Amino acid sequence: MEKKKVYVTRYFEQDSIDFLRQHFDVEVYEKDEPVPREIFLRKISDADAVMSIPGDKVDAEAMDIGKNVKIFANVAVGYDNMDVAEANKRGVYVTNTPDVLSDTTAELAFALMLGCARRIVDADQYTRDGLFKIWSTKKFLGYDIKGKTVGILGAGRIGKAFAKKCSGFDVKIVYNNRKRDPEFERDLNAEFASFEDLLKNSDFISVHTPLTKETHHLISDHEFDMMKKNAVIINTSRGPVIDEKALVRALKEKKIYGAGLDVYEKEPFFEEELKEFENVILLPHIGSGSFETRRKMAMLAAENIHEVLNGRKPITPIG
Ligand code: GLV
Repeated sequence: MEKKKVYVTRYFEQDSIDFLRQHFDVEVYEKDEPVPREIFLRKISDADAVMSIPGDKVDAEAMDIGKNVKIFANVAVGYDNMDVAEANKRGVYVTNTPDVLSDTTAELAFALMLGCARRIVDADQYTRDGLFKIWSTKKFLGYDIKGKTVGILGAGRIGKAFAKKCSGFDVKIVYNNRKRDPEFERDLNAEFASFEDLLKNSDFISVHTPLTKETHHLISDHEFDMMKKNAVIINTSRGPVIDEKALVRALKEKKIYGAGLDVYEKEPFFEEELKEFENVILLPHIGSGSFETRRKMAMLAAENIHEVLNGRKPITPIG
């Protein structure tokens, strides 16, 4: 019997590809760059399954052309690149990779928080540049974490994992979420706050909401106006949750102290002016980027494909 075809839009850890190759006829877009749309559409036209990444638009057109595709398996927890309603309507599975990346992403958010608070990145640059000539009492002063209020916007898996990282640092944890979570409140001594109160009272705000119509530009001028002057905003979720132009204005007008960003509105592009601020850390979307986690994500996506092409339900379906 002819093997089923799997198209993989990006190079992933070899063991996930090897696993797929044991069962299927697998083609990988090997370049470390987004697969051009026309190649994506051509390749999926005779595929039975697709392993995709957040940059690949899995929309009605892709489902029309990939008419035999039974599953689009995203190697990411976020799935704003996928038209889930359309897939559900057609009986096509769409899957993501939740859980396996929660701690890794939360750790990066935590690193950004510490990095911004203590000016780690620009202080490193200063040292590398040979400018460390005297022990200065003025340079690179930052803020303590201890005793501060950390606001978590979106207490899903990653938001909660981030709270856990914070729990040893003597901070007050407040959160805002669509639903209250009594267990989370009890376990981590987290306090529910309205969106406005969280913005007004937090010294550090970490964004963990998914990108939806409701969360697009959730943080814009009005929201920056409410924040404390020493506030640091961290985003490891999706860029468009923050209005990037409003963020630049907030930094320029010193409405807030700093920002740690791993994601941008129009990746890989970002507002160039962000580079001018010392208290801003800019990372290239590496939230889930540990060796261990990227491997687990790719394996989970591969297993989802394996299940579906063998007539079973996927492990982590969306919708
Ligand atoms: C990465 O951005 C993810 O959603 O997993």
